[in-house]
Amino acid sequence: MNLTLKIWRQKSAKDKGQMVKYKVSEISEHMSFLEMMDVLNEQLINSEDDPVAFDHDCREGICGMCSMYINGQAHGPDRGVTTCQLHMRTFKDGDTIIIEPFRAKAFPVIKDLVVDRSAFDRIQQDGGYISVNTSGNTQDANSIPISKHAADEAMDAATCIGCGACVASCKNSSAMLFVGAKVSQYALLPQGQVEAADRVLSMVAQMDAEGFGNCTNTGACEVECPKGISLENIARMNREYLSASLKG
Ligand code: SF4
Ligand code: FES
Repeated sequence: MNLTLKIWRQKSAKDKGQMVKYKVSEISEHMSFLEMMDVLNEQLINSEDDPVAFDHDCREGICGMCSMYINGQAHGPDRGVTTCQLHMRTFKDGDTIIIEPFRAKAFPVIKDLVVDRSAFDRIQQDGGYISVNTSGNTQDANSIPISKHAADEAMDAATCIGCGACVASCKNSSAMLFVGAKVSQYALLPQGQVEAADRVLSMVAQMDAEGFGNCTNTGACEVECPKGISLENIARMNREYLSASLKG
């Protein structure tokens, strides 16, 4: 298929940036979206133009790097997939595709489609861990009984890949789905109880310090999340936060 691409080009964080139009041809419907971008970049390199910078790593929906806004939706029009899992059969011959970076004050553009999501790393560093006794007397995790329901919910929360689509889709640029998932994956398990109160207080404080907005229950984050992280996790984080605040 032949396509027109309108892509956000921005040389650096300081550059104003603009949409630039490109044509690509003979794109197979079996290609992934990123393979189509590779074709464009080969074309640009061959004509001695600057290739489009975009993030990617695993290309199998695990690492959360491939942050692109495609035709006005984070990770494109398909549900439950990341940009790297999106296939060109989703589009039609002759289509125009608009490709932009994830936009949020807390995710400044580094170049073209690459944004700085280190704010997520700093939130994780503020509580996304548990203390484990490594003296040699470590208790076997299997000896701690956990209900099937709690284990399943914790596992669901832990599938968050930190891609940032929730932030990019939210009109408030809220990170509460991401932080809710990270808080929940520990709050649901006995191993997460030791630091539970400190964890939620410091992760939320860091989230606010990074400049993410508040949640107004629009639910766009849940719809666009490639891993199906539920709004339940935001509600759980709010309960954890309230109870930790009252303890303090
Ligand atoms: S909650 Fe979903 S959209 Fe947000 S960072 Fe995690 S996987 Fe991505
Ligand atoms: S490149 Fe890893 S999730 Fe897309």
